[in-house]
Amino acid sequence: MEQFKAKNKENEKNKRALVNEMKVKMPAVSENESTARSVVNAFVAHYDPTVEELADIRCAVSEAVTNCVVHAYGGRGGVLYIGVKAYSDRSVKIEIRDKGRGIEDVKKAMEPLFTTDKSGERSGIGFAVMQSFSDSVKVRSVPGKGTCVTLIKKLASEE
Ligand SMILES: Nc1ncnc2c1ncn2[C@@H]1O[C@H](COP(=O)(O)OP(=O)(O)OP(=O)(O)O)[C@@H](O)[C@H]1O
Ligand SMILES: [Mg+2]
Repeated sequence: MEQFKAKNKENEKNKRALVNEMKVKMPAVSENESTARSVVNAFVAHYDPTVEELADIRCAVSEAVTNCVVHAYGGRGGVLYIGVKAYSDRSVKIEIRDKGRGIEDVKKAMEPLFTTDKSGERSGIGFAVMQSFSDSVKVRSVPGKGTCVTLIKKLASEE
């Protein structure tokens, strides 16, 4: 609770308060793509999103989590962290983080149709999907250390 209050002080500067937060950790395996999508959906559902906003969030989270499973750990599994925060201004921040292989050139990786996949299964549109379904997408990555994707979605006002 004390920690929560301290974080709130920080957010007051931005004229918004932290309303709720959640952290989950799970193995980066393909069955957890739906688990991750569902837990984020359940968390955000409390804040009266529209059906479309919830669908957008599920879609963006799926893309980010699939990338951790497929690219960060090459299907061998590893640790996947998901953090979600809801703020009083109705924005939702979702962090999807891995400790996998990282991305050499983030700008290039985010270009539509760019993929390092050689199997022909991937089309290189994951980041473009995240961008179109979120208000902001930020990617921090260190080769050999891991990647953190931060998605922000602003929910429409309830009136
Ligand atoms: N978490 C990650 N760790 C390491 N590399 C990543 C990660 N996320 C993305 N990448 C790199 O960025 C590239 C682009 O990702 P993006 O999701 O846009 O396309 P894709 O996953 O290749 O294809 P698609 O998402 O359409 O199936 C990937 O091919 C991969 O090289
Ligand atoms: Mg992808």
